[in-house]
Amino acid sequence: MNLSRTTSPKIISVANQKGGVGKTTTTINLGAAIARAGRRVLLIDLDPQGNASTGLGVQVSDRHITTYDLLTGDTLPSAAAMPTNVENLLIVPATTDLSSADINLMANEKRSFMLHDALHQLDIDTLNLDYILIDCPPSLNILTVNAMVASDAVVVPLQSEFFALEGLSQLMLTIREIRQTANSALRIEGVVLTMYDRRNNLCQQVEADARDNLGDMVFKTVIPRNVRLSEAPSFALPVIDYDPASKGSLAYIALAKEIIARERTPQTRRAS
Ligand SMILES: Nc1ncnc2c1ncn2[C@@H]1O[C@H](COP(=O)(O)OP(=O)(O)O)[C@@H](O)[C@H]1O
Ligand SMILES: [Mg+2]
Repeated sequence: MNLSRTTSPKIISVANQKGGVGKTTTTINLGAAIARAGRRVLLIDLDPQGNASTGLGVQVSDRHITTYDLLTGDTLPSAAAMPTNVENLLIVPATTDLSSADINLMANEKRSFMLHDALHQLDIDTLNLDYILIDCPPSLNILTVNAMVASDAVVVPLQSEFFALEGLSQLMLTIREIRQTANSALRIEGVVLTMYDRRNNLCQQVEADARDNLGDMVFKTVIPRNVRLSEAPSFALPVIDYDPASKGSLAYIALAKEIIARERTPQTRRAS
């Protein structure tokens, strides 16, 4: 254990209420690329579908301690974190137990702080983490609110397709509300264009619109549509191990570099 560490891990939610935009793909592959750069990373699977857990090879039958137990305070992060096939990459897996119905029954104002409280206890130090990445479900429900209340920043995957920007205003509104109520420090780390096809005019148009409207909130790196990214989870590997030279792999390594480069630069950008 590195006892000299004095800063707590940076907590990043990967969120967009739309399904199929690349949240889980981004969480797995960004997490793996950051880990490969020598940082210690914990992924939290916060989607009852458990795709991030499956994609990193955690079988349903091996999900003994899950995100649900973490949220309800029945377990400690150090007990819930499982190793993956990737060095320095851990995961707290999810099962269908994590349906928001259950969580909604916990009727008190602490309901939105369950994940926050789980991740901000002394036990987290024993994991010696640099980053925690949270894979959010495709909705703005209580689980996503928990993620944002617990986080320092949000990464928003935006699929390069028509109407992509429309759903973004609802997400921005939610982020603003959370900043005003529960977590004033929440920032937008950035919007990342996913499934991008350079030969497609529509993709170029979406990128131009996003950069016009959101400026430097949009990551320089765009994630190309790349079949290797969709194949990798069935081999229980991140793309950097499944096909290290693929375009998808190189893109997520570049995205990780953008985020790591900010470690020493003070951030002032706010959701507005
Ligand atoms: N850049 C990409 N290129 C090709 N396929 C992708 C890419 N990103 C995601 N996919 C595929 O698209 C589907 C939805 O992605 P996923 O990450 O599961 O989205 P979400 O978590 O937002 O629902 C998955 O089958 C995934 O493998
Ligand atoms: Mg997902």
